[in-house]
Amino acid sequence: MAKHETPLLDQLETGPWPSFVTDIKRQAETKPECWDILGILELSYEDRITHWKHGGIVGVFGYGGGIVGRYADVPEQFPGVEHFHTVRVAQPASKYYSTANLRQLMDLWEKHGSGMTNFHGSTGDIILLGTRTENLEPLFWDLTHDMGQDLGGSGSNLRTPANCVGQSRCEWACYDTEECCHHLTMHYQDEIHRPAFPYKFKFKFSGCPNDCVAAIARSDVAVIGTWRDDIQIDQAAVKEYVAGNYPANGGAHSDKDWGPFDIQKEVIDLCPTECMWMEGDELKIDNSECTRCMHCINVMPRALRPGLDKGASICVGAKAPILDGAQFSTLIIPFMKISKDNEFEELIDFIETIWDWWMEVGKNRERVGETMQRVGLPTFLSVMGVEPIPQHVKEPRSNPYVFWKEEEVEGGFERDIIEFRKRHAA
Ligand code: HEM
Ligand code: HEM
Ligand code: SF4
Ligand code: SF4
Repeated sequence: MAKHETPLLDQLETGPWPSFVTDIKRQAETKPECWDILGILELSYEDRITHWKHGGIVGVFGYGGGIVGRYADVPEQFPGVEHFHTVRVAQPASKYYSTANLRQLMDLWEKHGSGMTNFHGSTGDIILLGTRTENLEPLFWDLTHDMGQDLGGSGSNLRTPANCVGQSRCEWACYDTEECCHHLTMHYQDEIHRPAFPYKFKFKFSGCPNDCVAAIARSDVAVIGTWRDDIQIDQAAVKEYVAGNYPANGGAHSDKDWGPFDIQKEVIDLCPTECMWMEGDELKIDNSECTRCMHCINVMPRALRPGLDKGASICVGAKAPILDGAQFSTLIIPFMKISKDNEFEELIDFIETIWDWWMEVGKNRERVGETMQRVGLPTFLSVMGVEPIPQHVKEPRSNPYVFWKEEEVEGGFERDIIEFRKRHAA
């Protein structure tokens, strides 16, 4: 596999941002097939169309997913990428690594693949980019036997769950996102490796409403930490902020002069529910009106903390636009205790109630968010055994096309027109 002329890609070696072109060229010194990935990409830059054939079905025995097959449509020109399959490898929670682990993985990938990677795929997996079909089983053997690591998910199944760093290095984590993510990943290995669903399904775990893993937008079940008692206030630290001794937002805006910190302007007046005020030099919060938006805590991390009665809100149904429009997740459970002590039992029960229903009712390639839209939120809530509460809606419906169940209507739906005509002549 020879070097190709890549005048267009070469332009991407300029500028301050780390250049993927430079990196791949360096990799090509030891892995010549990387010259062909640059060659085929250059060709795509020239004629502005992809040069991968449609689809590709490859994998390892025992699993129905984990590897995304791919073949070049110009294999004679670029034999190094004739097969260019992508292997999804399960990542550790929060993506903490030891160099020993990464070196072992890279040795394995140098042996069986292109040496190119994606750290990480959007869902969370370690992505090993580019290998041939005959290398898949040997790679999988080494991965499992030598490293004790598994593949991630792909297809109509539970995909690889992911979490924010949570309690490992964030003071705001309202539950152990890493433990929860790891536990559920292990618990649902079968659902990850062997597709059994109408369509894909994802979990994501954020420790607080800042939602650093973007669970609300990127997962069918989003577990987002919160608390239900009072925000913890350290009044002495509030005074330090007011005096300008502590930087607002942990110094996040220090690259620009925004003037001295003004607690009224930057915190109190920005609280979405207007539930904060100063009494002398004491900060007060009417917690019954606080929506736990995190703003005040984000601005004064040394003075304010989430409460002590912690748990999570569970939202369901986020998806990208196809087919019937993008959706964020919808709040279903405002507060659930998330605890390792009972092995996340309440959350697991909740998830399985969704699956029992969606696996029967969900149409082919219908995300759970679309199934919810099709049957309606009231039906979904009744399936989940959840009583409707005002927190389930942003606003009540404005149209009057309200369905009633027959048992809710006095006299039922069976009526006789003859009876009606006795009182109202035709
Ligand atoms: C130019 C004449 C008419 C206009 C502009 C009109 C307009 C409408 C509109 C906007 C609706 C609500 C549609 C929806 O979104 O569900 C409606 C519903 C309805 N219209 Fe008309 N309409 C007209 C004539 C009629 C006539 C002549 C009848 C009966 C003889 C009639 C009977 C009904 C009934 C029964 C509904 C309720 C249907 C339901 O709720 O399922 N309309 N009409
Ligand atoms: C027996 C007499 C009437 C019957 C059976 C009747 C029936 C209906 C029906 C079925 C609709 C559709 C409601 C829907 O959206 O589902 C409607 C809408 C409407 N009717 Fe009548 N109607 C009658 C008299 C009148 C009169 C006398 C007026 C005006 C002076 C009127 C003005 C309207 C208007 C403006 C709407 C549209 C309301 C909206 O959707 O904003 N109707 N009517
Ligand atoms: S989502 Fe919240 S708890 Fe998790 S890392 Fe971000 S700020 Fe911290
Ligand atoms: S968390 Fe948000 S809603 Fe609650 S007091 Fe702070 S700014 Fe107001």
